[in-house]
Amino acid sequence: MNQAAPNAAQGGATATQPPDLPVNLAGYAEGARAALSPAAWAYLSGGAADEITLRANPAAWGRIGLRPRVLQPLAHGHTRVELFGRVWPHPIALAPLAYQRLFHPGGELASALAAAAQGAGFVLSTQASTRLEDVAQAVAADAGRGALWFQLYLQGDRAADLELLRRAETAGYEALVLTVDAPCHGARDRERAAGFTLPAGVRAVNLRTPAGDTPAPRHGESALFDQLLCHAPTWDDVAWLRAQTRLPLLLKGVTHPADARQAQALGVDGLIVSNHGGRTLDTVLPTATLLPAVADAVGEGRPLLVDGGIRRGTDVLKALALGARAVLIGRPYAWALAHRGAHGVAHVLRLLRDELEIAMALVGVRTLDGLRRDHLQLLPPTPQQDFRWTD
Ligand code: FNR
Ligand code: LAC
Repeated sequence: MNQAAPNAAQGGATATQPPDLPVNLAGYAEGARAALSPAAWAYLSGGAADEITLRANPAAWGRIGLRPRVLQPLAHGHTRVELFGRVWPHPIALAPLAYQRLFHPGGELASALAAAAQGAGFVLSTQASTRLEDVAQAVAADAGRGALWFQLYLQGDRAADLELLRRAETAGYEALVLTVDAPCHGARDRERAAGFTLPAGVRAVNLRTPAGDTPAPRHGESALFDQLLCHAPTWDDVAWLRAQTRLPLLLKGVTHPADARQAQALGVDGLIVSNHGGRTLDTVLPTATLLPAVADAVGEGRPLLVDGGIRRGTDVLKALALGARAVLIGRPYAWALAHRGAHGVAHVLRLLRDELEIAMALVGVRTLDGLRRDHLQLLPPTPQQDFRWTD
């Protein structure tokens, strides 16, 4: 056996692993659970209803089998990708997560600094617990940082939406991510059972007024349909938003090819295939299953990203082979933030990138554009992999 091969595979984090750090993303979950209150843990790690989509997301990446090609030239390979005119050193970004000061006093600042240190893209949530200007300023001067994007939830008030958009533009955010899969919260059983409420001092500081008490619906009215959803965005709002900014506009939460085509027709620049990590509508198909049809609808032209259950370098590789240009991770970096602060987040990014490099080498591609669907095959379902109703 070639002795160089296993050594080369240990060239990254595995070789320098301090003994007390987790060796993979899942390893951070335990430390986070210990660091957080049961209610904060339920908010972070839970999903909607029976959590079928929450479990199905990572399982679906695992159900795609790899078909490596051997003896390929690998020298001088790299993980670079290009998005909106910027070269990313690797295709892994941090997804928008609300209220990160729940997880660590450093909150979004710690996550953004860690992303910058690893050249990773960072998407700040509308519901961030840190001022958007402070996050942008903290990383602006870092020449090696990754892309900085702002995630928008429309507020049902165009003046307020515009104010937030202009603030994001002025602060230097480089793209806008409109989340479209959450006009309301999902039925979050785990969160409600744990009695989750935001602690004092953690709130959506970038919004004009934190959501106050809504009046009780009149007799026969639905609090959802007759109140909240009267302000929910529609395709008209996407067209309006498109006309308000020159920043690249992405929609996050598109899962149907027909919606992907409609977004393209409205001049949307990119899509994020996402089911909100299983937190909104339970039993939505896993993103690994949804991605190929959206990729086919979009074609080569506009960037496609994906998130949901990405925990391994092989998951990243499969997402790219199915047509994504980049991926986002959510919970794993919040686990790392809770357990180890900014260092944990940087470590998670490093681990995933190292795993991606190893996966590329062993599948036989030296660059990510060498990945093909031919490298993959869907495994037939087994009884153990059927959805379960209880943990
Ligand atoms: C989210 N997500 C989310 N998405 C969004 O567009 N705006 C937001 O404010 C939030 N907030 C949020 C909070 C928490 C605690 C979680 C776990 C998730 C969804 C997120 O961006 C992403 O789509 C998923 O987290 C991806 O799935 P994984 O990686 O967590 O499995
Ligand atoms: C969530 C919202 C904030 O998933 O997007 O918690």
